[in-house]
Amino acid sequence: MTGAQSASTPDGLLVVESAEKHFGGVAAVSDFSMSVPAGSVAGLMGPNGAGKTTLVNLISGLLHADAGVIRFAGHDIQRLPAHEIAALGIARTYQNVRLFAGMTVLEQVMAGSFLRRGTTLWASFLGLPKARAARKALEAEAIALLDRVNLTHRAHVLAETLSYGEQRRVEIARALGSAPRLLLLDEPTAGMNAQESSEIGELTHRLRDGGLTVLMVEHNVRLVREFCDAVTVMNFGRLLAKGRPAECIEHPDVQAAYFGKRADAERIRSLR
Ligand SMILES: Nc1ncnc2c1ncn2[C@@H]1O[C@H](COP(=O)(O)OP(=O)(O)O)[C@@H](O)[C@H]1O
Ligand SMILES: [Mg+2]
Repeated sequence: MTGAQSASTPDGLLVVESAEKHFGGVAAVSDFSMSVPAGSVAGLMGPNGAGKTTLVNLISGLLHADAGVIRFAGHDIQRLPAHEIAALGIARTYQNVRLFAGMTVLEQVMAGSFLRRGTTLWASFLGLPKARAARKALEAEAIALLDRVNLTHRAHVLAETLSYGEQRRVEIARALGSAPRLLLLDEPTAGMNAQESSEIGELTHRLRDGGLTVLMVEHNVRLVREFCDAVTVMNFGRLLAKGRPAECIEHPDVQAAYFGKRADAERIRSLR
């Protein structure tokens, strides 16, 4: 990509320019740029260790870039603390499911709202009369969030009894509680079967059609092809390819970097 091309590219809702993040001698993210247009489902692919989670951490403010620019909706966010970035409208889920032990599905989602809004609402858990209405309102809001991920029928069971796919959807409901404009999903379908994965894909489309922008770290090539409007591929912290999913996935560099090991394995198998 030349400077002239990048200058003529319309600004995305999220813009990353020449981001750098080093851990000791490892360049986890290196001279990396990408743009996510508003109202799209963007995919982020790359082999293990490519720097995808580090990038999500930089965007969500869990880590700060050593250099480069990260802009969201016109704000420079690369130096902001995570809670300010969240307040601007970025929410995320994590590569590993993070749910609270011993809580129902509804409580998981309500707890997300408590944590965001601070201590005043703790009074409602203590049962103070004035706070009862606030708790009811919060509960209604949590039910509405669960409805967005098709989980209202599971509201009152312990979250740990849910399938892996359902637990991921609880996390997404919790993330939606902050009314984000951009949702970052780090490997949302890891460990899921084909049916559960497709449900996540369909969910990203429903969210997009409701006005949200989604950036999804995704290994499942079928899902990227079927559900992502565009994809960016990272390798060793750097940009390897970007564009339409079908073209990107077929790109020889992507095939070599991303499927190299599998291709080797298949060749070795075919030689047996
Ligand atoms: N907190 C950290 N401390 C040290 N090294 C890290 C840390 N996080 C990630 N790395 C390293 O940065 C590189 C990119 O990791 P990561 O962003 O998790 O990749 P991906 O999500 O694409 O698998 C890897 O080499 C990883 O070991
Ligand atoms: Mg990762």
